[in-house]
Amino acid sequence: MQEAFSLQGRVALVTGASRGLGFGMACGLAQAGAHVVLNGRNTELLQARCADIQAMGLAASVSAFDVCDRMAADAAIDQIEKEFGALDILVNNAAFGVARDFLDTSDEDWRTVLDVVLDSCFRLSRKAAANMVRRGWGRILMISSVNARISRGTNTNYITAKAGLEGLTRGMAVELATKGVTVNCIAPGYMATDINTGFRSDPARYEWIRNRVPMKRWGTPQDLAGAAVFFCSDASAFVTGQVLVADGGMTIAI
Ligand SMILES: NC(=O)c1ccc[n+]([C@@H]2O[C@H](COP(=O)([O-])OP(=O)(O)OC[C@H]3O[C@@H](n4cnc5c(N)ncnc54)[C@H](OP(=O)(O)O)[C@@H]3O)[C@@H](O)[C@H]2O)c1
Repeated sequence: MQEAFSLQGRVALVTGASRGLGFGMACGLAQAGAHVVLNGRNTELLQARCADIQAMGLAASVSAFDVCDRMAADAAIDQIEKEFGALDILVNNAAFGVARDFLDTSDEDWRTVLDVVLDSCFRLSRKAAANMVRRGWGRILMISSVNARISRGTNTNYITAKAGLEGLTRGMAVELATKGVTVNCIAPGYMATDINTGFRSDPARYEWIRNRVPMKRWGTPQDLAGAAVFFCSDASAFVTGQVLVADGGMTIAI
């Protein structure tokens, strides 16, 4: 059974892997045997994270580019294919939101968030999937959010983009289903990372979320590693188009 979860010989690109959930999932994929390519916009930070993984005796390298930069993203995938022979796994994780009341949301706010959270995943997936289809094996994993289905206010741009990402997952999954390529999604709950440092620094809001979660804690970057390995390995061969909610039970409780 262990073999089904092995990623030995696979090459994985994880976007937004310089910290937070992306780095947590990259460590998990590397521990399962993959060569992980860490993406983000800060080369120095990525090199430090890459060295952390290599220090564990695991395989990693860096590909710094802005996921919204179409030409740079295409070139990065071409380079990975050339250097390592294949890009087998794509984890679309990089994202950020603009905290803004709906009535104050500008066209620019809207476009910025839709571009990084949704459009970039469409473009990276289309580029990576073409090669996966040619080879007859591939795994694409989207990182959505519980906010795709529940709203907290001031994040309409983000929840709209994440809801779209779950639609993209299902649309792609059906079209690629006979090609050996699966497309799935993890929807994390509230995880303690840089994306919500401001929100968490208010003790009242920190406790509000903690108490909403049946497990009575915020998530950690390590909490997604196992699910990521499952979706990126042969263990999930008959699973596609699914959204796995990893939220400590938050959205199944009253
Ligand atoms: N934390 C949570 O509670 C939570 C909950 C639900 C869903 N999520 C989702 O989980 C994913 C990871 O979030 P996180 O909490 O780990 O956030 P984070 O700690 O803020 O990390 C975000 C990562 O994305 C990278 N990034 C941002 N914009 C980028 C761009 N344009 N091009 C390339 N890289 C970019 C950042 O690197 P640089 O800034 O160095 O480029 C960083 O590595 C996101 O999709 C987020 O929406 C998080």
